[in-house]
Amino acid sequence: GWTADLAGRHVVVSAGGTREPLDPVRFLGNRSSGRQGYALARTAAARGARVTLLSANAELPDPAGVDVVRVESAAELHRAARAAAEDAHAVVMAAAVADFRPATYASGKIKKVAGQEPAPIALVRNPDILADLAAHRARADQVVVGFAAETDDVLANGRAKLASKGCDLLVVNEVGNGKAFGTGENEAVVLGADGSETPVPFGPKEALADIVWDLVRARLR
Ligand code: C5P
Repeated sequence: GWTADLAGRHVVVSAGGTREPLDPVRFLGNRSSGRQGYALARTAAARGARVTLLSANAELPDPAGVDVVRVESAAELHRAARAAAEDAHAVVMAAAVADFRPATYASGKIKKVAGQEPAPIALVRNPDILADLAAHRARADQVVVGFAAETDDVLANGRAKLASKGCDLLVVNEVGNGKAFGTGENEAVVLGADGSETPVPFGPKEALADIVWDLVRARLR
């Protein structure tokens, strides 16, 4: 049955995919729909939490009763996540954050020049927001959760990623062949830093979200 088991808690969820600007009209982006993050925000709110949803370019309606902060780039998401995490009991990074961004931003639209080859796009690394949040927790008892999409060796790669990110839980799902992206369903394994392994059968993203909150709640003081 329904319980307000997250009442009095502030949770931060990121959703969608970042856009890394090249010039005022162009960006490098990804295909993340934001649905899993929005499902996490909705279910947390339904369980009584105060929810801050950091929404990166998701074309989805604002969930009722949720504070939505819109961001575009990884840099904007980083700033917003640090600020929102300040007093959060849990942070769940479900957004697809670009690993790289264009090294330079052209303040005017990049133009094609007749007879000239296009300039290559140089990239630089973005900071890892999840690893940063996990390493600099605003509260000692804050629970930090990441997501990882893997195409092969899902469990081994997931374990290695959990350790390198320093988070408490990592939701690992297999992607490719039309799985997960943009659909309403997901299948995953939730790995815990305590060695736990929680398989989540194929089902609605809300069901996975509720299992994530169960695992988060068990780790809250
Ligand atoms: O390393 P990878 O991109 O597979 O890790 C995915 C997880 O890390 C997601 O939770 C994502 O939100 C987070 N991430 C991040 N900052 C980055 C890259 C990924 O917070 N620059």
